[in-house]
Amino acid sequence: MNRRDFIKTVSCAAGLSAAASLPARSHLQTPKKVLFLGGRLYAGPYMVRALIAAGHEVTISNRGITNPHLFPELSYVWCDREQDQAIGLAALLERVKLEKFDWVVDTWQKHPAAVRDTARLLSHYIPFYHYVSTISVYRDWNKVGISENYPIKDLSAGSFDRSMEYRYAIRKTLGEAAVREHYPKNHVLFRSHGMRAYHQDDPIYEAYWPVRLMRGGEVIIPDAADHFAQVTDIKSLASFMVHCGETGKTGPFNVAYSPFRFSDYLQQAEKVLNPQVIYVPMDPQTLAYYKVKPYRTMPLWRPNPAGAYRFDVSRAKSAGLVNRSLTQLISDQIAGYRDRYPDDSFQFTYGPLNTEREAEIIADFKRRNEGE
Ligand SMILES: NC(=O)c1ccc[n+]([C@@H]2O[C@H](COP(=O)([O-])OP(=O)(O)OC[C@H]3O[C@@H](n4cnc5c(N)ncnc54)[C@H](OP(=O)(O)O)[C@@H]3O)[C@@H](O)[C@H]2O)c1
Repeated sequence: MNRRDFIKTVSCAAGLSAAASLPARSHLQTPKKVLFLGGRLYAGPYMVRALIAAGHEVTISNRGITNPHLFPELSYVWCDREQDQAIGLAALLERVKLEKFDWVVDTWQKHPAAVRDTARLLSHYIPFYHYVSTISVYRDWNKVGISENYPIKDLSAGSFDRSMEYRYAIRKTLGEAAVREHYPKNHVLFRSHGMRAYHQDDPIYEAYWPVRLMRGGEVIIPDAADHFAQVTDIKSLASFMVHCGETGKTGPFNVAYSPFRFSDYLQQAEKVLNPQVIYVPMDPQTLAYYKVKPYRTMPLWRPNPAGAYRFDVSRAKSAGLVNRSLTQLISDQIAGYRDRYPDDSFQFTYGPLNTEREAEIIADFKRRNEGE
């Protein structure tokens, strides 16, 4: 392949996209009362804010350890769900006996016994249970277009042992099962893909593509056939959650963007970032040669399993999921990054390609191609 065939210079003139905004929804006449279990780590705050913005009255419940400065204005119930029920859920029980809530939101991802205990208790007092779940509950991701009726992980006797109960996917599948058991009709399961937003503290997952494109220069991209990607915009998920509560929607929902072509993603990112980049596409064999792996070292590229970035989200869309544009999401991510690293000092030292290694690979790649 001639170098000119695979190197494309991009200088996009479009400026920053409009400020991110939530999809518009009809304004609700009667504020609802929502009990939010958790709410102060990553996805929870977006959901709490969306509920408040929609005019609802939110009570949060947790141990007061994680980000205790958040939401001081809200009604609060101390509860440790990992304690014996009599201690852990006692305060929650006291509150729900006194106060009528319209629905509960649960983001729990640790031991599923906590979901079981809470759903069992609350089913006598609160009519709807919203559980933040994940696409990891599906049996596999081998099919393109997995919808909500695709088999989930087998939980029947003998299909997994106690130790597996501590694996994320099993925990969440058991969590869903507990919610279904105690709320057979009135549950919503939000099966989220990888969540993206303004704020992501974990440096491993720092927004690779927006940051990398913003920095400019020569950028390795996968040159792969049928390269689709898929993520969940947390603000769109939060807005959909509010909508489901307000309109009484129930059942499982895959919640994410519809699968998008990576080339389209780059175009949208260019609109936001106006980057001065030279793309260096490399086919999967070349990337494998350089030990650049899909997903971990090359985010938003996951050819296997075939359905990993191809989930069907049509049920959620029909029910009212409105995804913000990719440019809004990317604007949020890059704004978050700039706030956290005003001097652009972040280094991808683990996970995605770091700058030095990328430059080495490109230099070697060019040498090999020029030598052919
Ligand atoms: N990140 C992704 O890409 C992704 C993708 C798909 C699905 N998901 C799902 O999204 C969900 C989001 O979770 P999140 O962490 O962002 O939720 P969150 O509601 O923002 O934070 C977790 C809350 O749990 C509380 N908590 C922890 N231990 C507790 C205990 N023993 N008793 C009572 N409360 C306790 C914490 O407060 P205290 O510590 O103060 O108690 C915190 O407020 C997860 O379930 C995950 O499975 C994530």
